[in-house]
Amino acid sequence: MCGIVGFVGNTPCSSLLLDGLRRLEYRGYDSAGIAIADDTGQVRICRAEGKLTRLEEAFRAEPFDGTVGLGHTRWATHGRPTESNAHPHRVGRVIVAHNGIIENYLELKEALQRQGRHFSSETDTEVVAHLIDEALATGADSLKEATWRALDRIEGSYALVVMETENPDELLVARHASPMVIAHGDGCAFAASDVPAVLSHTRDFVFLEDGDTALLRADEISIFDADHRPVDRPIKRISWDPISAEKQGYKHFMLKEIYEQPARIVDTLRGRVSVDRGEVHLPELGLDADTVAALDKIVFVACGTSYFAAQIGKYLIEEVARVPVETELASEFRYRNPILSENTLAIAISQSGETADTLAAIREAKERGARTVCICNVIESTIARESDGVLYTHAGPEIGVASTKAFTTQVAAVSMLALLLGRLNGRLESDRAQELIEALREIPAHMETLLQDVDVYERIARQYSQATSFLYLGRGNQFPIAAEGALKLKEISYIHAEGYAAGEMKHGPIALIDRELPVVVLCPKNAVYEKTFSNVEEVKARGGRIIAIGTDGDHRLQNLADVMIPLPDAPDFVQPLLSVVAVQLIAYYIADFKGTDVDQPRNLAKSVTVE
Ligand code: F6R
Repeated sequence: MCGIVGFVGNTPCSSLLLDGLRRLEYRGYDSAGIAIADDTGQVRICRAEGKLTRLEEAFRAEPFDGTVGLGHTRWATHGRPTESNAHPHRVGRVIVAHNGIIENYLELKEALQRQGRHFSSETDTEVVAHLIDEALATGADSLKEATWRALDRIEGSYALVVMETENPDELLVARHASPMVIAHGDGCAFAASDVPAVLSHTRDFVFLEDGDTALLRADEISIFDADHRPVDRPIKRISWDPISAEKQGYKHFMLKEIYEQPARIVDTLRGRVSVDRGEVHLPELGLDADTVAALDKIVFVACGTSYFAAQIGKYLIEEVARVPVETELASEFRYRNPILSENTLAIAISQSGETADTLAAIREAKERGARTVCICNVIESTIARESDGVLYTHAGPEIGVASTKAFTTQVAAVSMLALLLGRLNGRLESDRAQELIEALREIPAHMETLLQDVDVYERIARQYSQATSFLYLGRGNQFPIAAEGALKLKEISYIHAEGYAAGEMKHGPIALIDRELPVVVLCPKNAVYEKTFSNVEEVKARGGRIIAIGTDGDHRLQNLADVMIPLPDAPDFVQPLLSVVAVQLIAYYIADFKGTDVDQPRNLAKSVTVE
């Protein structure tokens, strides 16, 4: 949930650490800190509550520098977001920054307190610093040895970077159930919880495995496995352009990411679909005709926006491949007693690949014998590593907390999966597959068209941003888009919103309709158009304000609506990829009009690695 960056080299590193933290702010931003050692072992720590700018101000007031250091940006789990709870934590000679949760920290803390140790924060992390310091004080002959001893006593998850004042030319890094990468530079080494932190310095990364520790020096890196044996881990080249992690002139990352969607969908489809043959190639999933023929069902597990992508997957797969599909919120699935068999395909959808509930759900599915695959955006993330097969979306790093391009690439991925399953089990004819693949390939161009005209969204923002509540309605594969539209709006504008199946409106929400309630209706020309249109008429008859998202040229809908957002005409199968752009932009322009923190909405974090 937090971000870590570490550096050891021969050049001053304060700017590198602060820059790395800036690129990691999406991982947490309620407090931050850096620690830097100079070559005499003198360590200075600067920490601040609040966003990174507060840390930068504090640092500028009393600057310092050195060639070894670490930084941390926090999203609180144990202890309030205060300066004293901000990382790094120092105990004696030991300085620690940590991501994750130490589950047995209270027990350990009480034991350490009984030995007379004093704690200066409410965090679980400080326990780690004490344990390492204690190990050093009781005979451990190196930081590495001391850290191993400490880790033996810890239960929970961690990505750790540790410095010791006696050895100011090295950093110790450890990982268990929380991501951590390391990299070698020219006369230096880096550690980070996420690639973008140091992507402007290197492209070649080592992804540590669970249980690994690594000792970083300017001229060498040594990695040890969970049994403390020296081990080599492969170096992976990351092709993301560092500039793609910047805002590129857009007012917010979210807006930039909305505009990036056509390109990211092209990337996601690239090399995987063939219109000529009506085929989809996803060998990374390890699915063949026999496996698919034997499937009893598919179960999607996911959270939040990714869950809505799963719901679209259900509509598409059942439509074209006729395989039964269940979708389940990962947080529910993991504590039920789900019925799965070895012929069940469990699919996790997760942008980050680190969401705690989704990870637990996929582990549960695996334990019960199901085949597991995931749709994921982060290479080598934990969910990706633990699934039997991985379909990577190529959304690139998503910085805005509210998911946009990650969602549309997930929908592109489930669309390809539906086509693959249908072709493998023979339920989808080649001609039909060709049409649907062609429709998918046309989506980026349609999105570009849709993104050209934003006047309508600015108008909606001016007219409706004072509303206290919104209702979103959709049927069929537009129902998940209604839910996603409502989620986007509440996340970034803090306006209450509900996404409802349009047919359910008269079973309750219709009571809400009056002149004050904007109702966003997803009503493109599709198989359920007439049904949805009747719902629009019902809203109108009760004086509701209608924002209709429909097919370009649909004058009947336009005449009924207060505002109409026209979508390019496209087959039902791909329509969610267009209508979602409209609901993203409604949310974005309303939030921007209200002046909320669009990229980092209150109380939210980009990657939810705790329950
Ligand atoms: C909403 C949003 C969240 C995530 C959810 C799952 O805009 O981003 O609802 O979709 O936390 O995250 P991942 O996909 O990383 O598992």
